[in-house]
Amino acid sequence: MPIGLDLANGLRVELAHVTEKTWQKFQNGILELESESFAASIRDTPNSLRGVAYSKTSVFIACYYREKSDVVGYVCGDRLSQFADIPGVAADLRRLATNSFYLSSVAVRASWRGLGIGKDLQQGCIVEAHQKGYTRVTAHVRQGVATKITDRPCVLDSYSNWYGTGEKYDYVSLWRL
Ligand SMILES: CC(C)(COP(=O)(O)OP(=O)(O)OC[C@H]1O[C@@H](n2cnc3c(N)ncnc32)[C@H](O)[C@@H]1OP(=O)(O)O)[C@@H](O)C(=O)NCCC(=O)NCCS
Repeated sequence: MPIGLDLANGLRVELAHVTEKTWQKFQNGILELESESFAASIRDTPNSLRGVAYSKTSVFIACYYREKSDVVGYVCGDRLSQFADIPGVAADLRRLATNSFYLSSVAVRASWRGLGIGKDLQQGCIVEAHQKGYTRVTAHVRQGVATKITDRPCVLDSYSNWYGTGEKYDYVSLWRL
């Protein structure tokens, strides 16, 4: 994983893994970002995010500006089978495969959006999932944006009103070997 990203606005942000050891340092920034970024119906709970950070099979990357407490973005995910109750995953034939990874959440602080951080975080997450031995990465993304993350996404299912948000979402395969 690169240790930082040089942004188009001339600023540099740092990257770090969020694990059992580092969760304390990042948790307030991540939970604040989570609540400002997602409607309540699709927001992860503090417990579920901590669970992903503590999991040995997950990838969890935080992006921060200068201080670890100043989180500007994060991406995380874990083995697909951990998310078996989510629509799309529930019907995924590979939901029980140990080598399938689900990118469960990505968020960037509003004032830092449009600088490529979201794309870099998601691509970094895919690379790390590959390095951990996963051979496929899926995710739910707003309809039409998957091509902004990877070259050849494959739409597996679509939802017209994702968890009551009024938004169209796709369940997509972002990458596979
Ligand atoms: C989605 C989000 C993470 C993109 O972060 P970002 O740093 O602005 O992304 P980038 O600068 O790399 O932008 C790449 C483009 O792809 C879009 N994009 C990238 N990943 C995306 C995703 N997972 N979902 C929706 N849009 C995405 C961006 O909106 C942007 O679109 P634009 O070119 O039309 O402006 C950010 O807008 C955000 O935190 N939104 C609120 C939370 C959210 O919707 N998360 C995704 C759903 S799980």
